[in-house]
Amino acid sequence: MMNNKIMIKNAAELVTCSGFKAKHGKEMSELHIIEDGAVVVEDGIIKAVGKTEDILKKYDEKDFQAIDASNKAVLPGFVDSHTHFVFGGYRAEEFSWRLRGDSYMDIMQRGGGIVNTVKATREASFEELMETGLKRLDSMLSFGVTTVEGKSGYGLDLETEIKQLKVMDELNKIHPLDIVKTFMGAHATPVEYKGRTDDYVEFMIEKVMPEIAKQNLAEFSDVFCEKNVFSIEQTRRIQEKAKELGFKIKLHADEIVQFGGAELAAELGAVSADHLLQVSDKGIEDMAKSGVVATLLPCTAFSLRESFAPGRKMIDNGCAVALASDFNPGSCFTENISLVIALATLQMNIRIEEAITAITINAAAALDRADEIGSLDPGKKGDILILEFPSYKFIPYHIGVSTVEKVIKNGKIVFDKNLGGKIC
Ligand code: NIG
Ligand code: FE
Repeated sequence: MMNNKIMIKNAAELVTCSGFKAKHGKEMSELHIIEDGAVVVEDGIIKAVGKTEDILKKYDEKDFQAIDASNKAVLPGFVDSHTHFVFGGYRAEEFSWRLRGDSYMDIMQRGGGIVNTVKATREASFEELMETGLKRLDSMLSFGVTTVEGKSGYGLDLETEIKQLKVMDELNKIHPLDIVKTFMGAHATPVEYKGRTDDYVEFMIEKVMPEIAKQNLAEFSDVFCEKNVFSIEQTRRIQEKAKELGFKIKLHADEIVQFGGAELAAELGAVSADHLLQVSDKGIEDMAKSGVVATLLPCTAFSLRESFAPGRKMIDNGCAVALASDFNPGSCFTENISLVIALATLQMNIRIEEAITAITINAAAALDRADEIGSLDPGKKGDILILEFPSYKFIPYHIGVSTVEKVIKNGKIVFDKNLGGKIC
């Protein structure tokens, strides 16, 4: 047996999600399932996928660490393409205010919300952020996440933005999950710039973004484009500069009010536009045409008690929809991908097959990685989930509970529920 060679065989359903780019509209229902399937991984890369009997004709299982997946479904590792998982402090008190009827924006406008977490993140040491970050990654892994995006945006000054991004770099080195980094200096206006948002935008453009680019600390640039946060014009300025500096673009768009965020994302050639609770019909059309991945975050709508994004309408109009957790200390404090999928299917009228596409290949596309992760295709990373159940349909059916038994990352078993969780 060789450790760098794994064969998973006899899978009741091998859900390949096969493809190398985002799936739009109707294509999202096609999961390309192989019954009694097998997959072979060598040196971290998928070498072959097919029926178990065909794979066994080509490969001798004695050369492999063979895993019997009888009665189990096998899927690509989940990709959580929108999180804010590195932060100091918590905002449980604000959560209780929201239950009393205060809105997210009321709390933000009277000086709470994101800037509260900024204070705690500025005060937190590198080690404290590492420690909490590590625990959060472990939890994500238990839900089957093998790649996660993480945003800065709780520093809002050069030093702390860099600290957040460097914490992600260190975590990436020591944790099996792959971390994709996004700079989000335009998440809120910090207290020292209160009432001077244009000056803050100037500071971002002139000082902070060039330094982040110079130190190569982030791949994406994101902006909270929202009424009373960053205007369309301010967002366009920041993101035009970001493009000049070589960042790929994401937007928090049309979350609280209809604002033209989706349209702007299409104009900018963004990789994704996220939230979209209030997206316009024109915004949907623009995203479908320009290929912006519409990333929906149902746990945030649930937690904010807002109406859900019109996911069904987006798919019916040809958009590529992705799903993500939006894990953060304010609007959505959960890393639970099972709940994301349950809400998408039960509350947004998204079919289970579409939801699986949305959390795998389309989520990979939302990170510009559809060529390397998000499906079980030869040549892609060996990021694979084995469920405790025989079908992907158990994922939303077992509401809010992880159905993941084993996680294989880069061809190595890194999580096994039967062995107590993370095993590396
Ligand atoms: O995606 N909407 C803006 N940003 C985050 C929330 C951040 C926070 O409240 O700390 C989001 O929901
Ligand atoms: Fe967010």
